[in-house]
Amino acid sequence: MSLKVLALGGDGIGPEVVDGALRVLEVAAGSIGLKVDLSEDLLHGAAWEKYGTFIRPETLQKAHASDALLVGAVGGPRWDHIVIDGGPEEQDGLMKLRHELDVFACVRHSRAWEALLGRTPFLPDRVRGADIIVMRELCGGAMFTKNRGVDIAPGGDRRAYDLNEYSSSEIERFARVGFEVARRRNGRIISVDKSNVFMACKLWREVVEEIGRSEFPDVELVHYFTDNAIYQMCCHPTAFDVILAENLFGDLLSDQSAAIAGSLGMLPSACLPNLPKQGPVSGPAIYEPVHCSAPDIEGQGIANPVGAILSVAIMLQYSEGEGKCAKRIEAAVEGALNAGYVTKDLGGSHTTMEMTDGVIKQFRAL
Ligand code: IPM
Ligand code: MG
Repeated sequence: MSLKVLALGGDGIGPEVVDGALRVLEVAAGSIGLKVDLSEDLLHGAAWEKYGTFIRPETLQKAHASDALLVGAVGGPRWDHIVIDGGPEEQDGLMKLRHELDVFACVRHSRAWEALLGRTPFLPDRVRGADIIVMRELCGGAMFTKNRGVDIAPGGDRRAYDLNEYSSSEIERFARVGFEVARRRNGRIISVDKSNVFMACKLWREVVEEIGRSEFPDVELVHYFTDNAIYQMCCHPTAFDVILAENLFGDLLSDQSAAIAGSLGMLPSACLPNLPKQGPVSGPAIYEPVHCSAPDIEGQGIANPVGAILSVAIMLQYSEGEGKCAKRIEAAVEGALNAGYVTKDLGGSHTTMEMTDGVIKQFRAL
C-alpha cells in the first residue's frame, strides 16, 4: 500500500500548519502500514518569489501524478497586485490547481467540539452537537466564469461583471456527490440557492430536485434560499447536516459554519474529482484547511494546525479508503482539546508545535 502525496505549503501560515499535518500523517500512516511517497513544492506567492510564476508546469505535472495534494494556504498583500493574462485560474496557484484537477466537489466539515463550547460565539446549549458539512461546488459559477471584465463607457463610467453561470451537467455531477455524502451520513440534505431571483439558481434547484427524486429518493431534500439558510444556521446550527451550495454561496456558508467550531482554523476540506460508491476516489484530490494564509501571524508558530491535521484525516478517508484511521485522527484531536490544548485563535496559548504534539500523543494512546 502506498499513497503518493504532494505537499504544497503555500504562503503565510500555510507551511507551518502543513508541517504539523505531515507529522501526523507520518504517524497515522505508520500505524496502518501505509507507505507515504511524499514530495514537496512551492505554490502561489512562494512560487512567485522563486520562479516568477504562481505554479510551475512541473508542479502541475507532479499534481496530476499524485493521489493526494496537501495544500496549506495561498495569498497575501505582496502578490495581490499581480495580474496575469487569462481567467481567474491564472491569478492564483490554488485556483489553477482546482481548475486543472477538476476537483469540483468540495467537502467542508465543521463541528461543535465539547471542549470548545465556551469559546464559540453561541450559547453552549444552542450549539452543542452541531455537525455540519458544506458541500461547495468548486470549479464553476461566477468564480471561474470566462464572462468577466470591465467595460468603460464613453463618459468614463466603468462597468465590471462576473457572470454566474452553471450548466445542468455541472450541477448534476456535483449534486450526485453531495447526495452520496448525505446518504453516508444521516440521509438529509439542504440545497441553497437564490432561485427567487437568479436564472442560474432556478436551474440549480430544478436539477438538484431531479437528481434527488430519480437517484436518491431515500435522502430527504429541502431547499432554502441562501439568505435564510445563513440566518437559520446562526439561530439553529444543530438543525443542519449536509448543505449543497454553488461555488460562491459555498465559500460564504463554509466560513459561516466555522463559527460552531469557534475558529476557522478548525476546518478541513477535501476537494474531490469524483466519489465512487465504494472504495477510494480515483485521481488526485486536494486536501486543505479552510482558513486563509493569515500573513499577520506568519512565522510566529502560533497558527492552529487542526484544520490541516483533519485534512490529512479525510485524505486517508477519501483517497485511501481508510475511514477508520481518519476517525482515529479526529478522536485524537478531540482528545487533545479535552486535555486542554487550545491555540491562540481560540483564546488559548498553545503553539502550532505543542498542539500537533498533543494530537500525536493522543493518537498513540488510542
Ligand atoms: C477558500 C478561499 C479561496 C476561495 C480564495 C483564497 C480564492 O476563500 O478556499 O474558501 O474563495 O475559494
Ligand atoms: Mg473562502
